Amino acid sequence: MWPFNKKSNNVIIKINDIVISGNKKKTLLASCLAQGVEVKNNCGVGNCQKCSFALISGEVDTKQSQGRMLACCTFPITDIEIMSF
Ligand code: FES
Repeated sequence: MWPFNKKSNNVIIKINDIVISGNKKKTLLASCLAQGVEVKNNCGVGNCQKCSFALISGEVDTKQSQGRMLACCTFPITDIEIMSF
């Protein structure tokens, strides 16, 4: 039935070929760590850039630092596929 789950905050996150569930109100970093997916991180607030990633598909609300997207400062808007470094 269309639109499917339009009001749901749930999204699917594919990170380095691992598929996890995410939430539009949680950062990518929080969703990954909560489900046991290791993502490099240190500060959790956008300073260290250890959690940088590349967006392969989908839409996100993100803060970029020096041209890099940071998982600790990014919220998924749609289902997404990313590559973590
Ligand atoms: S954990 Fe430091 S910038 Fe994301």
